[in-house]
Amino acid sequence: MSFPTYSPRYKLGNDVILSEATALQLKECLAKLRFRRTIYVDWNFASVDPMGLCTVINFYGPPGTGKTLSAEAVAGELGLRFLPLGIAELESKFLGDTAKNIQKAFESAREDLAVLFFDEADTLLGKRLSSVTQGVDNEVNAMRSTLLIELERFDGIVIFASNFERNYDTAFRSRIGYHIRFDNPDFAARRRLWDRLMVDGIPLGADRAQLLTHCAELSEGFSGRDIRTCMRLALPKTLLAAEAADEAPALQRVHLDEAIAELTRAINEVAVAPGNSKTHNDTMTARRLLGVN
Ligand SMILES: Nc1ncnc2c1ncn2[C@@H]1O[C@H](COP(=O)(O)OP(=O)(O)OP(=O)(O)O)[C@@H](O)[C@H]1O
Ligand SMILES: [Mg+2]
Repeated sequence: MSFPTYSPRYKLGNDVILSEATALQLKECLAKLRFRRTIYVDWNFASVDPMGLCTVINFYGPPGTGKTLSAEAVAGELGLRFLPLGIAELESKFLGDTAKNIQKAFESAREDLAVLFFDEADTLLGKRLSSVTQGVDNEVNAMRSTLLIELERFDGIVIFASNFERNYDTAFRSRIGYHIRFDNPDFAARRRLWDRLMVDGIPLGADRAQLLTHCAELSEGFSGRDIRTCMRLALPKTLLAAEAADEAPALQRVHLDEAIAELTRAINEVAVAPGNSKTHNDTMTARRLLGVN
């Protein structure tokens, strides 16, 4: 298996909309990353603070809040390439290969100067299994040991993303230099998200500023991804309505209202047991119910 890296498509300033608290944390983290080589390598500060060179960042928070997007944007901001890895990329049917795949991924990131991004990192980095009874458990433990070794040797940037903050094994927790929390957007952030998604090419059938405020109010509790899903639902409605009435299409408040109502219903239909936090899989199920990807 090979691990291709690619040139990031996003920048933080242009593409990512965050609450002030998250934006500030991310900004501080970026400043450290930008000056890290000068301080630790050129000025040799690493001789007295070897752990300060730490480059492992953890993005955590509910699904659809921009963690994956921000990871790519951080790479874009720093002029580095991007190498995202999910469980699917790392898993292998053949025993022993997962650990090897991890080594290869680090190798690719080193060669191409890429930010390594581990999605669903809590699954990968959860507590190590102590009672090894099966080949599979063995495999998982071997993979985690390899990952720890590679993290020690790697002098690039690694970002973990997870829906949970505390699922990591302590060995991994101690390697994380920054924890950055992503939350569902507040009113101002929701309004900016709607604004970003209502691109100029879309013909509007109502006052733009009023539409944005209306949608931001109605979408309380939605993530950025939920808002994108609403737009994906609303736009075909616009075209269908125009076709039926034999008129020029224009996005109306009613199309957005319907989309928001449909998504709210789908989210509620996905049974979330009390006390359980919403996870990535719940969101995926809701989207499948709606037929949007
Ligand atoms: N903060 C945000 N700023 C701009 N767009 C966002 C933001 N959050 C979500 N989106 C939109 O939703 C899409 C999905 O977000 P993303 O994949 O980054 O979420 P995530 O936090 O990684 O979710 P998960 O926990 O399910 O992996 C983005 O590609 C973007 O279109
Ligand atoms: Mg993600």
